[in-house]
Amino acid sequence: MRVLGIETSCDETGVAIYDAKLGLLSDVLYSQVAMHAEYGGVVPELASRDHVRKLLPLIREAMQQADTTREQIGGIAYTAGPGLVGALLVGAAVGRSLAWGWQIPAVGVHHLEGHLLAPMLEENPPSFPFIALLVSGGHTMLIAVEGIGQYKIIGESLDDAVGEAFDKTAKLLGLGYPGGPILEQTAKKGDSTRFKFPRPMTDRPGLDFSFSGLKTFAMNTLHANEMNEQTKADIALAFQTAAVETLAIKCQRAIRETGIKQLVVAGGVSANSALRERLNTLVLKARARVAYPRLKFCTDNGAMIAYAGYLRLQAGELEPPRFEVRARWPIDTLTSL
Ligand code: KG4
Ligand code: ZN
Repeated sequence: MRVLGIETSCDETGVAIYDAKLGLLSDVLYSQVAMHAEYGGVVPELASRDHVRKLLPLIREAMQQADTTREQIGGIAYTAGPGLVGALLVGAAVGRSLAWGWQIPAVGVHHLEGHLLAPMLEENPPSFPFIALLVSGGHTMLIAVEGIGQYKIIGESLDDAVGEAFDKTAKLLGLGYPGGPILEQTAKKGDSTRFKFPRPMTDRPGLDFSFSGLKTFAMNTLHANEMNEQTKADIALAFQTAAVETLAIKCQRAIRETGIKQLVVAGGVSANSALRERLNTLVLKARARVAYPRLKFCTDNGAMIAYAGYLRLQAGELEPPRFEVRARWPIDTLTSL
């Protein structure tokens, strides 16, 4: 079976084609980052309109790259949530309509399931069970994954997601949008001895997170010091170190408490090299394993949706020819395969 995957949940239009035997045949992406940068964050209505403009040309491009005709496509997968409702509707409407016209099945994919299965596209994929650390712009979660669709949330952020905290701190420092990658670059010039930020919620039991305090700590530190390039870099580094250390402490705890010695890290923040270094050391000590997606599949992309959709279509998951998208969609309500 060959599946066309469509991702339009936020500010990237992603399209990919996944083949059951041959693996990923093509993957194309258009990022709206430049358009939203002017506003310092994603403007939902502009995002929807841009998906409308870009989606069909990208589908053509993905089909061409994969040397695939429409007769060869056996199913369509589109992101059905969680995400921006207008943006989701574009992918859902196009995906459903193509499936209707081509008389093939289509399935609505959970965006976070896409993220957490993305490392399966790599060599040496993780096996079940594993603990997933899902770190994106909208979510920070620890999930015990027993199988596809068997997701138990064992920890999550009570306020800001870690990606959101990166973005807000970067904005505060005047670094621009999107904040995560720029903050990481800025932190490279930082002096690690100058500031020490707290590790929120690590001094009490449990696996939940809280990141909004770190952003406030960054703001107070900024106001208490002379604002120059070095101060910005030092704050960026102190923030990143605290965020990474907090995530690492909870991962270590999750491995110890569940006895599951396999960690999967996914979502935009899993591209962060300080986080990867810290987790690589952690798993060595814990005699565990860690798996990440390749860098371009950490952030939003069509490949993870094509793959997750392929698994569900292949298992016979059938949905009637109507669509529903959800701005909110708890991942632990999915059907297990
Ligand atoms: O998964 P994603 O592309 O979109 C959501 O589903 O939210 O994640 C985007 C988030 C943003 O908050 C972005 O700043 C963050 O991931 N991010 C990073 C890095 N690359 C992306 N955060 C820290 N370091 C990075 N290198
Ligand atoms: Zn995402």
